[in-house]
Amino acid sequence: MSHLPLAGKTGVIFGVANKRSIAWAIAQAWHQAGAKLIFNYQGERVKENVEELAGTFGSDTPIYPCDVGSDEQIAAFFAEVAKRTDRLDLLLHSVAFAPREALTGQFVNTTRQAFATAHDISAYSLVGLTRAALPFMEQNGGSVIAMSYLGAVRVVPHYNVMGVAKAALEASVRYLASDLGTKKIRVNAISAGPMNTLAARGIGGFTEMLKHYEAHAPLRRNVEMAELGATGLFLASDGAAAITGQTLYVDSGFSSMAM
Ligand SMILES: NC(=O)c1ccc[n+]([C@@H]2O[C@H](COP(=O)([O-])OP(=O)(O)OC[C@H]3O[C@@H](n4cnc5c(N)ncnc54)[C@H](O)[C@@H]3O)[C@@H](O)[C@H]2O)c1
Repeated sequence: MSHLPLAGKTGVIFGVANKRSIAWAIAQAWHQAGAKLIFNYQGERVKENVEELAGTFGSDTPIYPCDVGSDEQIAAFFAEVAKRTDRLDLLLHSVAFAPREALTGQFVNTTRQAFATAHDISAYSLVGLTRAALPFMEQNGGSVIAMSYLGAVRVVPHYNVMGVAKAALEASVRYLASDLGTKKIRVNAISAGPMNTLAARGIGGFTEMLKHYEAHAPLRRNVEMAELGATGLFLASDGAAAITGQTLYVDSGFSSMAM
């Protein structure tokens, strides 16, 4: 018997755009732990990147298109998954979007449209994806993980509507955990410190955020990608068998500080 913690498990990964994506760090940790993975890609713009990265796990690693703003595309994605497997053990949701103009200036200026888009893509999609994955998970249980940020519970300048959407995401984690617990499906969020990714660069003052964490977090440093991978692996593995409905902070301790 293999001693790899995720041997025999299959996971779907939503949210790889490039090699700096948090989703890619968690995918690498899951892969190294023995899981088989299936990737989405958002559109033709990132297809080649995802193809190349997924290909490093073996040329037959499946990637299928899925824009999470579309119920049809979610259904089509899982129809492709069904051709490969009838069982999923892991689902990573590492997806967020808000119009760039909503991530700078004052929250009070958020438009109805920007508010709706941010919540649709960044929070509702967790519900839609988890529901679509359910038929693949309900026999054997599973682990669903979403990515959040401190802006869900505290005001972070410029994070604005994304913070409100992350609050909805974290609440969705709790409600999903409650619905699915009896099926042994666990649902948790990782609240990460600021990471230098494509999505993060859209947030006004992001570089200052990195410096602020380095200066004020108890560990006096920013988080490393591999550390998010390791937490993703922990939450996916049996060591976390009694953990669900939680938001776990991986932020060098920053969230514990008041001043
Ligand atoms: N980078 C940070 O500082 C940080 C901190 C905490 C949490 N997070 C969260 O981590 C997650 C991943 O972000 P990242 O920082 O790795 O950036 P990223 O840009 O690498 O990943 C964001 C992903 O979201 C996908 N996406 C956006 N709109 C989509 C749509 N309509 N359909 C399908 N996919 C869509 C993009 O294709 C991309 O793969 C997000 O939820 C983000 O909010 C990031």
